[in-house]
Parts: sequence; structure tokens; C-alpha cells
Amino acid sequence: MGKFHLTLLFLHTLFAINACLFPASHARHHRHTYKRHKHGHYISPPDSGISLPPSSQPNNPSADPPAYAPRGVFDVRSFGAVGDGVSDDTEAFKAAWDAACSSTDNSDSTALHAPSGHTFMIQSTIFSGPCQTDIIFQIDGSVVPPDGPEQWPKNTSKHQWLVFYKVGGMSLQGGGRIDGRGGKWWELPCKPHRGPNGTTLPGPCDSPIAIRFFESSNLTVKGLQIQNSPQFHFRFDVCHNVHIESIHITSPALSPNTDGIHIENTNNVQIYNSFISNGDDCVSIGSGCFDVDIRNITCGHGHGISIGSLGNHNSRACVHNVTVRDSLMRETSNGVRIKTWQGGSGAVSGVTFDNIRMDSVRNPIIIDQYYCSGKGCNNQTSAVLVTDIVYSSLKGTYDVRSPPMHFGCSDAVPCSNITLSDIELLPAVGEMVLDPFCWNAYGSLESLTIPPVFCLQEGIPPQPILESSIDHC
Ligand SMILES: *[C@@H]1O[C@H](CO)[C@@H](O)[C@H](O)[C@H]1NC(C)=O
Ligand SMILES: *[C@@H]1O[C@H](CO)[C@@H](O)[C@H](O)[C@H]1NC(C)=O
Ligand SMILES: *[C@@H]1O[C@H](CO)[C@@H](O)[C@H](O)[C@H]1NC(C)=O
Ligand SMILES: *[C@@H]1O[C@H](CO)[C@@H](O)[C@H](O)[C@H]1NC(C)=O
Ligand SMILES: *[C@@H]1O[C@H](CO)[C@@H](O)[C@H](O)[C@H]1NC(C)=O
Ligand SMILES: *[C@@H]1O[C@H](CO)[C@@H](O)[C@H](O)[C@H]1NC(C)=O
Ligand SMILES: *[C@@H]1O[C@H](CO)[C@@H](O)[C@H](O)[C@H]1NC(C)=O
Repeated sequence: MGKFHLTLLFLHTLFAINACLFPASHARHHRHTYKRHKHGHYISPPDSGISLPPSSQPNNPSADPPAYAPRGVFDVRSFGAVGDGVSDDTEAFKAAWDAACSSTDNSDSTALHAPSGHTFMIQSTIFSGPCQTDIIFQIDGSVVPPDGPEQWPKNTSKHQWLVFYKVGGMSLQGGGRIDGRGGKWWELPCKPHRGPNGTTLPGPCDSPIAIRFFESSNLTVKGLQIQNSPQFHFRFDVCHNVHIESIHITSPALSPNTDGIHIENTNNVQIYNSFISNGDDCVSIGSGCFDVDIRNITCGHGHGISIGSLGNHNSRACVHNVTVRDSLMRETSNGVRIKTWQGGSGAVSGVTFDNIRMDSVRNPIIIDQYYCSGKGCNNQTSAVLVTDIVYSSLKGTYDVRSPPMHFGCSDAVPCSNITLSDIELLPAVGEMVLDPFCWNAYGSLESLTIPPVFCLQEGIPPQPILESSIDHC
């Protein structure tokens, strides 16, 4: 049986009870033709199985256990999960994972299921592969961790909560919610301005990343709501082929360090049709990432989309072939940002920002090669090269506290081949127009811009750049 037939079977089984009540939704699932993408992702039609019929929506107490368990579906309740939000369901999830992961019942895929109408409390856990088949991790209910640092078991990691390690071929999906209960972590006195009288105090500050994928490949994340992570909501390290679709991430504007999706040493990433509103970077792209495609995402408050920071502690960093298009930045502190530390090496190259709407964004377009999160960063004689960057069709409004375009490139290695076309950025309030800022930035204008840019230097940087001093990755 094909993988997608199995998916269909699984969906059919879930919906079987409702089929006669909701014939339309049932029929819709029949019509789906699932295809396997050449890199192994599940590419599903726009109205894919994530739009569940009403009775399988989360938090619906009337949802009944399935009448029978289809082969290859491991319901966590069959492994002892209680799902009352209080009982510790960690062991049940681990047992269901182990059963699904080692199952050879089907040659294609098996599913772990956390059903709707339940809230499962689980501790920091590592779900390890490799598994015998692809895994569908279907969350239709809610999943929560222990509530805050006091409740966090002393013997479990405070760096991460749900971890997937060495998994090849997995879809984390469903109509459910993953709530990191970050509130008490954000209030730790070590967090910015959270000590007495707005101070920041020393002390243990580790806070868990909600969902972490490590050394995994062929991953899909879709449909879920993820909220209130103590730290980053998602982090991918050393992963390959990552497809993120139709997810909804929310946490408050003042929640510290709550990046939506962070990727590092990860390639072939697609992030589509998602909404991220949080307290730090919407998406952050770290060193070692390439072939990243981001489309149709909305970023609300937070710090916008960021490549970097790169080159910290004189490290070598390489990021290339990143595209962000058809997206909206709403009241974010940056729109699209590239930030590097002084003293690094390597390069950021081949980046395109296209058709992005800015709505009262503080720094819509920014390259900051003097990034320094603490104090006392000295200028150094090397830097991560920033080159071949395209900004096209970026329109909307900026918050007048800073210029709409800021190209602060390093003295050591100027930015080169920056292309601007169809830029139209107006002050969000008032008439005051701020001039773009450039420092050591080379590139060209392909059309008139609003406001006009006079500070970009034409051509290539004059100083003979020794090939050996530039590390092209
Ligand atoms: C942590 O300690 C508790 C109580 O001693 C024990 O039940 C649990 O298995 C431990 N967890 C880990 C991950 O070691
Ligand atoms: C990932 O998908 C590719 C393409 O389908 C396949 O060749 C590769 O073996 C898969 N890797 C894993 C670890 O599943
Ligand atoms: C906080 O500020 C108030 C008013 O200035 C002061 O009375 C109080 O001692 C301060 N508390 C601490 C812990 O510094
Ligand atoms: C863009 O993403 C939103 C979800 O944030 C979705 O509702 C909308 O249909 C998507 N648009 C397209 C053209 O796919
Ligand atoms: C850039 O990445 C895209 C996928 O996001 C890929 O299709 C394309 O081939 C890559 N381009 C280069 C030059 O590697
Ligand atoms: C670093 O260089 C920039 C640009 O030349 C300059 O504006 C800045 O003051 C320098 N910073 C330090 C700490 O020397
Ligand atoms: C400038 O960057 C664009 C976009 O990445 C690239 O297509 C072009 O070849 C670059 N031009 C030069 C002269 O390197």
C-alpha cells in the first residue's frame, strides 16, 4: 500500500464516525491526490487533512476514543496516557513512540496519535530514530510541559522540551496545539528587565526550546498551533529536507528569546503559509544553512526575519541561496535583516527578498555588520562577507525612529552587489522622511526608490580584495 493511501486510510478512520454527519468533508478527503515530492516531503493540496471536521477539533470534550485502532496507528491512550493536563503522560508517549518507531506492520508509515479533547502533559523527552518506517506524529489534542522552572523535573534537560533525534521521514502534524507554558520562564530575574525594579540579574537562565529537531531529514511540520515557548519555538540543527506549512506560532511581544523558527546547519528548507507572532526573530537563519525558501508568511511584532547573527567568536559562517517572498511584516522591529559580528569569516550570498509588505516596521531593510549583543565589541580586521543580495518590491511603512534602509557594512570587507528595485517605504506617521544609511555598501539601483538612495556606492569595492582573505564558502 502506498504511503499516501495509508495517510488517507488513517484520515478516513479518524473521520469514519463523522462521515455521515459530514459527508462534504469526507468527500473532500476522497478527492485528494497526495504526491510525493522529489525530496521526500508530503506536498498536499491547500485544503489538506489539517482542516478537521468540527468534532475532531481540539478541546472538544465530546470526542470519543476511536471504535478500533487501525493498523499502524498508535494512540497514546492505549499506552496509558491520561490526557487530563495534570497526569504525567511522558512514559505513555515514549512507549507509543517506541512501538510506532519499531513497527514493521506497514512498510510505509505508522502514526502516533494524541487525540483531540485531551491535554497531555509531558516532560522533556527525546524521541529518537531511526525508525522502521516514516512516522506521522499526529497531534489533535493539546500537549503541555510541566508549568515553569519550579515544576520542571530536576533531572530533565532545561534546554529543550520535545526533541526529535536522528529521525528520517516524519510528519509532525494535526489540528492540535503545543503550548510551552513559557510565562514563568520569561519572568526569571535573569531575563532582560525582569529583576526587581526592571533590572536584569545574574543567575541560571536556561529555558527550554519547545520543539527541536536534531540530525534529522525529510521532515514535515504542518497544521499545528504552537504557542508560548519558554525559548525558541522550533529549532532545527543539522537537518536536511524540512518542509513547514500552515503553522501558527504565537507568544507575547515581550516574551524574551522566543524565536519562531530557528535553523542552523540545515538545508533545503521550505517555510510556507504560516503565521508567526512572537517576541524575537520570526525566522532566524544561522550558519551552515542553504537552499532556504520562505513564502507567504506573516510576522507579527517580534524582530522580523533574520539571517544571523553570524561570525560570533571569530567563527566561519556560510549561508547561501535564501529566498523570502510574498510575505508581510507587521509592526516588527526589523523587516529583513542580515546581522554579523566583527571578526568572523565566510559569506552570506545569494539572498533574495521579494514582494514583502512592511507595516510600521522599525528597520524594514537592514544589514548590520557591527552586531554586538553585549558591550565592548571591538572592530576587527575580518568579517563575514555579504554579497549578491537582492531587495525587490518591498513596500509599505516604517516607524520613523530609524531610517527605512540601513546598510552598515564592515570596514574590513564591504558589502557588494546589493540590488534594489521597486522599493517604496513611507513613514508610518507624519511627513518626516529619513535618509537611507549606508556604510561601505556597494551595489546598484534597478529602479527609482522611495525614499531615494544616494548612498549606495556603484560598482565593485575599489580596494583590491585578496582572494585569500575572502572565504567564499
Ligand atoms: C527523574 O527522576 C524521577 C524520580 O526519581 C524518575 O521517575 C524519572 O524517571 C527520572 N527521569 C529521568 C529522565 O531520568
Ligand atoms: C530522504 O528522502 C530522500 C529522497 O526521497 C531519500 O533518498 C533519503 O533516503 C531519505 N532519507 C532518510 C534518512 O529518510
Ligand atoms: C525599587 O525601587 C524602589 C523605589 O525607588 C525602592 O524603594 C526599592 O528599594 C527598590 N527595590 C530594589 C529591590 O532595589
Ligand atoms: C497564505 O498563508 C495564510 C496563512 O497564514 C493562508 O490563509 C493563505 O491561504 C495563504 N495564501 C496562499 C496564496 O497560499
Ligand atoms: C536554491 O534553492 C532552491 C530551493 O529553495 C533550489 O531549487 C535552487 O536550485 C537553489 N539554487 C542554487 C543555485 O543552488
Ligand atoms: C567600528 O567601525 C565603525 C565604522 O568605521 C565606526 O562607526 C565605529 O565607531 C567603530 N567601533 C568601534 C568600537 O571602534
Ligand atoms: C549579483 O547578484 C545577483 C543575485 O544574486 C547575481 O545574479 C549576479 O550574478 C551578481 N552579479 C555579480 C557581478 O556577481
